[in-house]
Amino acid sequence: MQFSTKTSAPEKTRTGCAIVAVHAGKPGAAARAIDAQAGGAIDAALARGDLPAKAGSTLLVGLGGAVERALLVSVGDEAIVPEKAFSDAARAVVRALAATGAKDAVSWLGEVEVAGRDLRWKARALALAAREAAYRFERMKSKRDASPRGPHAIAFGCDRAQAAAIGAELKAATALAGGMDLAKDLGNLPGNVCTPAYLADAAKKLGREHGLKVEVLERKQMEALKMGSLLAVAQGSALAPKLVVMRYDGAGPKQAPIVLVGKGITFDTGGISIKPAAEMDEMKFDMCGAASVLGTMRAIAELKPKVNLIGVIAACENMPSGTATRPGDVVTSMSGQTIEILNTDAEGRLILCDALTYVERFKPAAVVDIATLTGACVIALGHHHSGLFTKSDALAAELSAAGRDSADPCWRMPLDDEYQDALKSNFADVANVGGRAGGSITAACFLARFAKAYEWAHLDIAGTAWKSGAAKGSSARPVPLLTRFVLGRAGAA
Ligand code: BES
Ligand code: MN
Ligand code: ZN
Repeated sequence: MQFSTKTSAPEKTRTGCAIVAVHAGKPGAAARAIDAQAGGAIDAALARGDLPAKAGSTLLVGLGGAVERALLVSVGDEAIVPEKAFSDAARAVVRALAATGAKDAVSWLGEVEVAGRDLRWKARALALAAREAAYRFERMKSKRDASPRGPHAIAFGCDRAQAAAIGAELKAATALAGGMDLAKDLGNLPGNVCTPAYLADAAKKLGREHGLKVEVLERKQMEALKMGSLLAVAQGSALAPKLVVMRYDGAGPKQAPIVLVGKGITFDTGGISIKPAAEMDEMKFDMCGAASVLGTMRAIAELKPKVNLIGVIAACENMPSGTATRPGDVVTSMSGQTIEILNTDAEGRLILCDALTYVERFKPAAVVDIATLTGACVIALGHHHSGLFTKSDALAAELSAAGRDSADPCWRMPLDDEYQDALKSNFADVANVGGRAGGSITAACFLARFAKAYEWAHLDIAGTAWKSGAAKGSSARPVPLLTRFVLGRAGAA
């Protein structure tokens, strides 16, 4: 799908479909200009009451001439259109477009005034909605999905003065969508295909194609590094663990890197503390943190901002077997801290703690780990906000803003030391679980013990990384948030 800008007048812009806004039942300027040329077909349709006022309602009107069709979309009736109404309209537009025969489309939605948002934001919202609607996962199907994906090209109408900025925004949206598609593909692949070795190979491929340096640490090297906690999770599986390190060098060697650390459990059975059968298939998504790191590396490598970025993924499988860790086992992490594994299903923190110790060597400017860490986070925040945990107010503000700006929001949760008491063990330095109370917080508190050497934040994406039910599939979150965050650090957002 190609995105471009158009600076000609709406009625003179030749297209298969002009996308025009209807605000409070009244056609916008672009709709009126096109309609004046087309003999009032739009007005007549509106007068007949064919377009409901609810934001996101659409109506296709055949016109003929330079503008073959007009796709009318309601943006509601509030004086200044709320962000959600515009996003709903954008999603409805791309769905309706796919159902037409139009080979290309031009959007005139830039004229809609959205609360607190500029033209670039509106262009990005529509471009990302179009890519989202065009995404298919058919790698595991024997026949390709024939359902329509929308037009090959979408142009964004704007003033000549804004064309360069909008062009840059569309390029950024395309890079982001490429990263999101990669994250979705990896998340959607089943656990028998997307293994730790598969993730490592995907990283190497990304490195070759986008000029990243990629290194894969094998079990032997993890043993030499004394990563006893990560290795304890891996020991129940027939598949070898991998620790993948990807580097994007966009700034000088003196600049401290941002480090992203992703949880890459390619399937989480729970181990000996085995999970119930219902919905266990969804635990193939337990590597979505790792996938979001790969997706972000891809987007950043394409956009080439002046920043140094390191992506680390800790990948292994959590299985019950004769070699698996038992509840009550005590292991020694790379940091030297001993851990009593009271519940083998709290495995994410066990692999991340060693990865967090490992990344100390990069002397990071900031470390953000991303993990489908706790069911408790889903109970606390549902499926809209990811959980954000950090002791740094500055980093919290930065990540929260990145989430807001990219429509990929997170919500700050507490991380007070008072919660650490829940992790007390009679037999080791720390237990890997607290009680049921505040489960996402005690999980973050566990990680905090291993992230003391740098500024650190943790994103719990258990509720946001994938959708369940009929639309089951990876969401690619938080690739938009992370990409925005990294671009912001480069001063390029
Ligand atoms: N991967 C799961 C967390 C999860 C569960 C994400 C459901 C999304 C949906 C994680 O490894 C896990 O099993 N966590 C346990 C922790 C508990 C044993 C303290 C959980 O949340 O139940
Ligand atoms: Mn688990
Ligand atoms: Zn897990």
